[in-house]
Amino acid sequence: EAAVLSDAPRSDAREAAPPRPAPARRALLMCAPDHFGVDYIINPWMENQIGQAALPRAKAQWENLRGKLAAHSDIAFVTPTPGLPDMVFTANAGLAIGDTAVVSRFNAKERRPEERLFCEWFEAQGYSIAPWPENVPFEGAGDALLDHARGIVWCGYGWRSGEEAPKHLEKIFGRRAVALRLIDPRFYHLDTCFCPLSGGWLMFYPDAFDIASREAIRAITPVEKRIEVGEKDALSFACNAVEVAGRVFLNACSDELRARLIDAGFTPVVTPLSEFMKAGGAAKCLTLQLPGAASTVMPRG
Ligand code: ARG
Repeated sequence: EAAVLSDAPRSDAREAAPPRPAPARRALLMCAPDHFGVDYIINPWMENQIGQAALPRAKAQWENLRGKLAAHSDIAFVTPTPGLPDMVFTANAGLAIGDTAVVSRFNAKERRPEERLFCEWFEAQGYSIAPWPENVPFEGAGDALLDHARGIVWCGYGWRSGEEAPKHLEKIFGRRAVALRLIDPRFYHLDTCFCPLSGGWLMFYPDAFDIASREAIRAITPVEKRIEVGEKDALSFACNAVEVAGRVFLNACSDELRARLIDAGFTPVVTPLSEFMKAGGAAKCLTLQLPGAASTVMPRG
């Protein structure tokens, strides 16, 4: 597949048409951890962690992440709700591209009450909500990652989202969806082990995927653009990273990975998220990438 590497969203480039457009300022959705905790077990990270997340520390870690991201992106907030301890993981709200949003259809029944709240948030922001088949589980941007450089959506399935999800996304968003089968229960969402970065770079943990999916990834991504991480980085959720303005925010990073990222032109920024790791999430899970504002808001200052 000849991938056309261009970072600027097409509509943005057309509207503004400056000789050299500034990189798009990203917009993110977050949810304060007021009611965060490990109250049930729906992934292996949560085993033996019920009641173990320290809320004051979680709040401090989240605030630290929020502050760092806020310096480089616009952040929107959805109101946290008692009894929904995982709502803080807004990556699972849905997937929003352009003015259309798909709201998650949670596989995890404990999280199904979040669907209505995220739906209301998207509606209030003026997104048009695309209909989604009742019987197809889909956990949003946890399992569907827009690759800005290639204009495609990478989709994970096997643990939370259904195998049919990618073809529905393809129809809704009119973009190629590449389906990747996740085989390691510790990497149950695509964003726990796979992170498309700007400029066509891709950071991922190959062992989380079946052989055919690994081959698909490598067929689409030239070797010089791949940042394949080892198990140690993978287990500290290095791939669960948020990139804004060339900075890559992550829970932890080995010296080797740090050097790789710097070589690729990124600035790794470690922001510890131990309390959220107990629930099976880190930096990327705590954010949802929003379209709209990202391409229209001018950089401040
Ligand atoms: N405890 C949450 C769950 O299992 C963590 C979600 C992490 N989110 C993510 N996008 N990987 O649903």
